[in-house]
Amino acid sequence: MQISSKIILLFHLLQLGELASVRINFEKCEWRGFTCKSSIELPEKIDVTFQCNDTVTSQDIEIYIWGFNSPLTIASLTVQNCEKVHLHFSCGDNKAIQWLKLRNIGNLELMQPTVTQNPRKVFFENITRIDNLPADTFSQMRSLRYKPVCGFATMELEEIYFRNVSIGNIETAAFKNLSEIRKFEWTDVVVDKINYGALKIQFADNGEGLIVNCSLGVVEPLAFQITADRFTIKGTKIQDLWPSGLNGTSSKFIFTNNTVKNLQSGSIAILAQNVVIASNYFTNVESGAFNKVSPGLLHDSQTHFGKLQFVYDFNHNTIAHVEDKGIRPDIETYRNVASYLNYTDNHLQCSCESLSWLGAEVDLGFGYNVLKDFNMMILNPKNKNSCTFRPCMCFSATAPENVSAPLIPAVF
Ligand SMILES: *[C@@H]1O[C@H](CO)[C@@H](O)[C@H](O)[C@H]1NC(C)=O
Ligand SMILES: *[C@@H]1O[C@H](CO)[C@@H](O)[C@H](O)[C@H]1NC(C)=O
Ligand SMILES: *[C@@H]1O[C@H](CO)[C@@H](O)[C@H](O)[C@H]1NC(C)=O
Ligand SMILES: *[C@@H]1O[C@H](CO)[C@@H](O)[C@H](O)[C@H]1NC(C)=O
Ligand SMILES: *[C@@H]1O[C@H](CO)[C@@H](O)[C@H](O)[C@H]1NC(C)=O
Ligand SMILES: *[C@@H]1O[C@H](CO)[C@@H](O)[C@H](O)[C@H]1NC(C)=O
Ligand SMILES: *[C@@H]1O[C@H](CO)[C@@H](O)[C@H](O)[C@H]1NC(C)=O
Ligand SMILES: *[C@@H]1O[C@H](CO)[C@@H](O)[C@H](O)[C@H]1NC(C)=O
Ligand SMILES: *[C@@H]1O[C@H](CO)[C@@H](O)[C@H](O)[C@H]1NC(C)=O
Repeated sequence: MQISSKIILLFHLLQLGELASVRINFEKCEWRGFTCKSSIELPEKIDVTFQCNDTVTSQDIEIYIWGFNSPLTIASLTVQNCEKVHLHFSCGDNKAIQWLKLRNIGNLELMQPTVTQNPRKVFFENITRIDNLPADTFSQMRSLRYKPVCGFATMELEEIYFRNVSIGNIETAAFKNLSEIRKFEWTDVVVDKINYGALKIQFADNGEGLIVNCSLGVVEPLAFQITADRFTIKGTKIQDLWPSGLNGTSSKFIFTNNTVKNLQSGSIAILAQNVVIASNYFTNVESGAFNKVSPGLLHDSQTHFGKLQFVYDFNHNTIAHVEDKGIRPDIETYRNVASYLNYTDNHLQCSCESLSWLGAEVDLGFGYNVLKDFNMMILNPKNKNSCTFRPCMCFSATAPENVSAPLIPAVF
């Protein structure tokens, strides 16, 4: 009796388990949660929307984007207002869904694909939680050495938009060696941890990477490997940026209005023609933090390197604590090319750099003059950098108090 009731209970649980997750399939418009309207971009096709709250069966749904029973007339698929979605990008018969949008989803689970096929554009909007973004979530057929039998790419992923999405963990190669990307945009995205080599993205000409108003926890080495005309991070909080956490080449690299708790040595490893690092708040800047910001070019240029202008703007930043050698970019390389280094209106609250400024640093070899010039530029009153020199620990020494006052009389 006991055993059979257990079996019956188990049977019920299994039934519930199956009921709990329902695989959705498009049958026709205005049927079981699906609605259609004519596509704006492709007038001869339709945009299909699936609405979870209209289905009576379940809020927990399963979508195989390429196993989708889609007629050739579908331009896009939007899935919205669901509690839980399991999304499969596993490749299948390549139907012409141009873009996929998931919006207002409680919990989104990306199922680890064997071979990934993404639509041309992917939008994730208002997603309360993605616990884990597994390897190969985003990848392109063109980078596969062996083409899978399950279909061949008539289009490749080009644009990725995440808006108001919270993510626990992004695995290595989640954005796997993507090329010819036109747009990558994260707005209001919260991520606890971005693992080593998670995002490798090469942009198309005029392509742009944009991270705005996000919050990133741990950003591991080579988490972002970016090749772009323009790469911007602004209004973003970063807890801990590891060495080469931001790595790559960008004609213009813009890093503004961010709050960074810990900026490790060599964490911003970017070659760029134009660098703007402005209006940020850095809590702790390790020695050599900006040392790998160097002049460099995205495209091999016929123009002589010497004729180009490189710009490094470091303005209006506040640094709560900086280790000695923490604030310089790759000044020796900048010195060897035509470049503008602007270093103005920055505020160093506690600076071990002062040890160098006072000549305490034993660094009289190659580059000493360059360093001296750089330090003189920072200390030049007309550049309006300030330094409170409140006593603080620099390795085992205490940063000097008051003693530098004569150097920058205007500041105190
Ligand atoms: C489903 O959601 C839409 C948009 O949020 C809302 O207008 C509609 O009333 C909801 N339907 C049901 C049955 O809850
Ligand atoms: C996201 O949620 C907000 C607040 O509920 C809503 O105003 C907005 O329209 C949603 N965005 C999308 C794309 O559904
Ligand atoms: C962000 O998405 C959540 C749902 O995950 C929604 O409740 C919230 O209103 C959205 N916020 C904004 C600013 O759109
Ligand atoms: C990355 O993709 C490009 C083509 O898109 C390919 O040439 C290159 O070998 C790939 N690199 C790796 C490490 O897979
Ligand atoms: C980022 O946040 C700022 C301040 O809240 C706001 O003015 C700006 O519009 C936001 N940017 C985007 C792209 O949402
Ligand atoms: C800078 O970011 C803060 C929040 O991080 C925001 O309140 C402020 O509006 C932003 N300023 C600009 C100019 O974007
Ligand atoms: C980015 O990382 C690669 C691989 O570690 C490294 O070879 C390269 O020098 C880094 N880029 C910069 C600008 O430091
Ligand atoms: C940087 O310096 C150059 C040359 O002095 C100047 O033309 C440019 O306006 C400066 N940029 C900023 C943001 O101060
Ligand atoms: C620093 O200057 C203040 C005000 O001028 C003075 O009271 C204090 O004794 C000085 N400290 C040292 C260590 O000289």
